Amino acid sequence: MFISIYLSRNVVAITQSASPLGKLGIEAALEAAADPSIAPKPKIFDEFALTDRVGLVSGGNRGLGLEMALACCEAGARVVYCFDLPEKPSDEWIASRDYVVKLGNNSRLEYLSANVTDQQALWKRAEEIGDKEEEWTFASHTDCLEYPAQDYREVLDVNTNGVLFTAQAAGRQMSRFGRGGSIILIASMSGSITNRGHAWVSYNSSKAAVLQMARSMACELGEKKIRVNSLSPGHIYTSMTAAYLDKQPHLFDVWSGMNPLGRLGRPDELRGVVTWLASDASTFCTGSDIIVSGGHHSW
Ligand SMILES: NC(=O)c1ccc[n+]([C@@H]2O[C@H](COP(=O)([O-])OP(=O)(O)OC[C@H]3O[C@@H](n4cnc5c(N)ncnc54)[C@H](O)[C@@H]3O)[C@@H](O)[C@H]2O)c1
Repeated sequence: MFISIYLSRNVVAITQSASPLGKLGIEAALEAAADPSIAPKPKIFDEFALTDRVGLVSGGNRGLGLEMALACCEAGARVVYCFDLPEKPSDEWIASRDYVVKLGNNSRLEYLSANVTDQQALWKRAEEIGDKEEEWTFASHTDCLEYPAQDYREVLDVNTNGVLFTAQAAGRQMSRFGRGGSIILIASMSGSITNRGHAWVSYNSSKAAVLQMARSMACELGEKKIRVNSLSPGHIYTSMTAAYLDKQPHLFDVWSGMNPLGRLGRPDELRGVVTWLASDASTFCTGSDIIVSGGHHSW
């Protein structure tokens, strides 16, 4: 970090940091005005590039995790490691890995079998990745008065503890290499609102905890240039929601009618926001919750 001070008319501008991409926006325009030999080039898409970055995505065998991992590869990440429970990756993961190879942008997807509730194992896997890559940038309907203790603990163990342990695994490597990074915790709109008609006290509580985890980690890790944000999807059609909706098909229309856009979201509709949060296009964003819910939370 450095401080530069320059005078522009009567305004004293103090810059505490500089974009790794050089001058951007108005600064680039002023530079070009002062030096006619400069040939301006669009840089906005360069800001979203994840060139040479290393990613770790938990739950990356399918659904939103895999969709996000693939988006990061398309944005140029050197490699994205997908952690998930099965020993062997799914067919859609293999198709995605092969797709990345065919993109020809030197990016790759890797699969590792790991349980996010096993903190020590997760830290170890992440450390091995750190050693290898050496660079990091960078995730039942029951009455609340009757909710069984064991079921409640299990939901929090995966959704809350597992998220913390994964973020720790990545954050420790970011801290080790001292170059900062971006951690994105996948929460849910259910961390801020309660889904009408559903008795999901464990899920909702687990996601509310993730929101506060992101804010809290952001405040602790800002000085290490590690940004931590949460991403809160609304109803997105994935294997997880399909399993629920297939048993209660009438809910498809009910859920669709609960947001102003009148439909469920697609996993690919999270590609832009996750790439933005992972990249230098969001360098001043930390401790925030980004809600992508088709407006569900606005009603
Ligand atoms: N789909 C939605 O509508 C929606 C909405 C809001 C938030 N979310 C959140 O997004 C995330 C992904 O949801 P999805 O719809 O893609 O679900 P999904 O069930 O399709 O994928 C979740 C993945 O996590 C893996 N997983 C589960 N327990 C694990 C463990 N202990 N260790 C490692 N991996 C584990 C599963 O094997 C699976 O591959 C979840 O945190 C979910 O709560 C989803």
